[in-house]
Amino acid sequence: MNKPLKIGIAGLGTVGAGTFKLLQTNSRVISERCGRSMEVTAVSASQRKKNRGIDLDGVTWFNDGAELAAQADVDVVVEVIGGAEGSARKTVEAALKRKLHVVTANKALLANHGVSLAKMAEEGGVSLAYEAAVAGGVPIIKALRESLASNSINRITGILNGTCNYILSTMRTTGRDFEDVLKEAQALGYAEADPTFDVDGVDAAHKLAILTSVAFGTTIDINAVHVEGIRNISTLDINYADEFGYRIKLLGLAERLPERTGGGIVQRVYPCLIRPEHPLASVEGVFNAVVAEGDFVGKSVYEGRGAGAGPTASAIVSDIMDIAAGRHAPVFGVPTGFLKALPSVPVERHVGEYYVRLLVVDRPGVFADIASAFRDEDVSMESVLQRGRNVNVNVNVVIITHETQESNLVRALKRLQANAALVEPPHMMRIENIEGA
Ligand SMILES: NC(=O)c1ccc[n+]([C@@H]2O[C@H](COP(=O)([O-])OP(=O)(O)OC[C@H]3O[C@@H](n4cnc5c(N)ncnc54)[C@H](OP(=O)(O)O)[C@@H]3O)[C@@H](O)[C@H]2O)c1
Repeated sequence: MNKPLKIGIAGLGTVGAGTFKLLQTNSRVISERCGRSMEVTAVSASQRKKNRGIDLDGVTWFNDGAELAAQADVDVVVEVIGGAEGSARKTVEAALKRKLHVVTANKALLANHGVSLAKMAEEGGVSLAYEAAVAGGVPIIKALRESLASNSINRITGILNGTCNYILSTMRTTGRDFEDVLKEAQALGYAEADPTFDVDGVDAAHKLAILTSVAFGTTIDINAVHVEGIRNISTLDINYADEFGYRIKLLGLAERLPERTGGGIVQRVYPCLIRPEHPLASVEGVFNAVVAEGDFVGKSVYEGRGAGAGPTASAIVSDIMDIAAGRHAPVFGVPTGFLKALPSVPVERHVGEYYVRLLVVDRPGVFADIASAFRDEDVSMESVLQRGRNVNVNVNVVIITHETQESNLVRALKRLQANAALVEPPHMMRIENIEGA
């Protein structure tokens, strides 16, 4: 057998300690499967004395990840510190500068600096692997980059944030409101103390930007992702959606539009309505899932745990095993020189059906105003629901539109906002259908 692969782990939190444990617990099967044993020879974290439930005897300690990457006697640096800048970035850059392989779970870093880091890895002839950065334990990077490599990918649709999926699933099944379920998610460790990145869709956007690059061979452009989070989703919307036969999910969607429709890359993260037959409708709780649609393979679905020590460590160690076995793929599927910068498609160009909820004062003529605003902007209604009939009391009018361009609907809603009968700004969500579902 070859000499052991020496690993340095920078960051010993949830993922770093989980990786250490997995390498130890399954060492025999790991070495049998990749033809090489592995040894963690160096680690780094900020607090040396902290009990992490792992035995660090004989392992060299570094006070900083970048120091480990610059000095440790290792073949691979695992960066699990986190963050797009600071120590994480310095650690990865220092490792690549030394031509060491890098494995990271850091989607923020890759979404912001992925291409320049990939270039460094390419120039050094080393791997920059990141299966754990997108959907945790779900092997979607390998699937897209290797198993589906012969396909032209048409579209990627995913539930990419377990926290949001947990919140929306729990709101639907219990009828509790957003704030209440968010608190529970924090108590259970599913959401951070500062949940902004999760509930505002930023974390899902980072993952989508990476997936887009791998699926379509494009440069990563995090600023091109249209992002909406789930803070404004109410149980009212969830219940109305249910009455119309839909579920609300926070989805990440990426699509390359054909030249005949103007071309470009769609990258969006937003809460939307999907039918129960949609492959992502039944993905509940903290689970993640991705649907990839390829021209020859058709639709394929990948589902699993998107976070947590075990699933994330599983993805990291599988990347390390590829390195140990000498398996190597271009970081984003093609050499960085081949990555294309395609224009992004503004959300106003989105064409689809919409869910609209308007809280209005119930008085004669209001519905006629709504109908004429929609008619004047060429938006036709498929279904309308209005409960109760109490003159001069506020009521919700819920509308499902036929397929329309978003800019038309936005103009119609703008007109209505000038109407005194509208009690609050309109609530609008897109309806996402998937072919064959
Ligand atoms: N948690 C998940 O389920 C999950 C899933 C997928 C991807 N990820 C990604 O994995 C990465 C790590 O996440 P995590 O949840 O494990 O974070 P975490 O629990 O907060 O761990 C971060 C670790 O980094 C250490 N650290 C801080 N500054 C450092 C420095 N300058 N040098 C070396 N180590 C330093 C911390 O040290 P101390 O322990 O001493 O404070 C801690 O051990 C992030 O990029 C995250 O997005 C996480």
